[in-house]
Amino acid sequence: MLPYPDRIPLAQTPTPVEPLARLSKRWGIELLVKRDDLTGAALTGNKVRKLEFLLAEAQARRADTVITCGGAQSNHCRATAVAARQLGMDSTLLLRTPDPANPPPVDGNILLDKLVGAELRFITPADYRDRAAGMARVADELRARGRHPYVIPEGGSNALGAWGYVRCVEELSRALSPGHATLVYAAGSGGTGAGLILGVKLLRLPWRVVGVNVCDDRDYFVRAIGEIAEEAIARDGLDVTLAREEIEIVDGYVGRGYALSQPAELRLIADAARTEALLLDPVYTGKAFYGMASELAKSRSRFGERVVFIHTGGIFGLFPKAQEIAEVL
Ligand SMILES: Cc1ncc(COP(=O)(O)O)c(C=O)c1O
Repeated sequence: MLPYPDRIPLAQTPTPVEPLARLSKRWGIELLVKRDDLTGAALTGNKVRKLEFLLAEAQARRADTVITCGGAQSNHCRATAVAARQLGMDSTLLLRTPDPANPPPVDGNILLDKLVGAELRFITPADYRDRAAGMARVADELRARGRHPYVIPEGGSNALGAWGYVRCVEELSRALSPGHATLVYAAGSGGTGAGLILGVKLLRLPWRVVGVNVCDDRDYFVRAIGEIAEEAIARDGLDVTLAREEIEIVDGYVGRGYALSQPAELRLIADAARTEALLLDPVYTGKAFYGMASELAKSRSRFGERVVFIHTGGIFGLFPKAQEIAEVL
């Protein structure tokens, strides 16, 4: 039994593990997908697994409002707003956008944020750099109004949130036959990677865990994932060690930048949809899948015989890019 912190069930789990028969044949490997896009409808994706632990702590502390932050079309912010509302709490979201005076259209995740009544505060990329201080200021403001805020870091990526992906590894360990496997995932703020790596270590599985970064670079993620994992090891007294050299990140697929697409990425999204009915998103899973496919094109054995792509969700990110995607169809 792993020493899980308290958790509120919010996600539809265990999510299925499905073979991708046609892409497996094309790439000459056994390719499976862990369908974490099926963790819920409005709650779809990886964030809800972290929120199960984070919001349990929020409720234990009698919070009535959750504060978090992300890019304008943040899946994490949308999942937080929906889950908070489901538990009877309010949410305030700090959303990064180039010009807050001209906020982005109400579409995709923003539409859902607004539907569940989240308070949206658009902030500049410069202010976003100091997001922890920005959220602390909002928390002070709410406290002064008699509210009880709970702050969640970007992406829900901290030691507590990482337990969500330890739990995902435990599910996978029940679903996969014994033997080697490589888990491939999109790295955006590091919590998913930290959880996957810790889960594999805690359960002593003979698996590799490989992240494809969708922003920043390899060094940034080795540090971010290392820090979250070390924080969890210390916080929960875990009997594992993690050297930074063990953190595998495949860099080189950020492309035009965070949340910016190139036609080749969008063409692969269309290809996966048409080959396997696999719906990837342009910001995270589409880029990670593109990175994985590009590496496999260079070397079939790059990730070993059996690869499990962790589908971390993000479907609502397709809609604000409808026009751009339509151009490659
Ligand atoms: C759909 C999707 N996939 C992957 C990620 C990356 O996960 P993490 O932030 O835990 O690295 C995110 C969020 O950042 C996401 O929304």
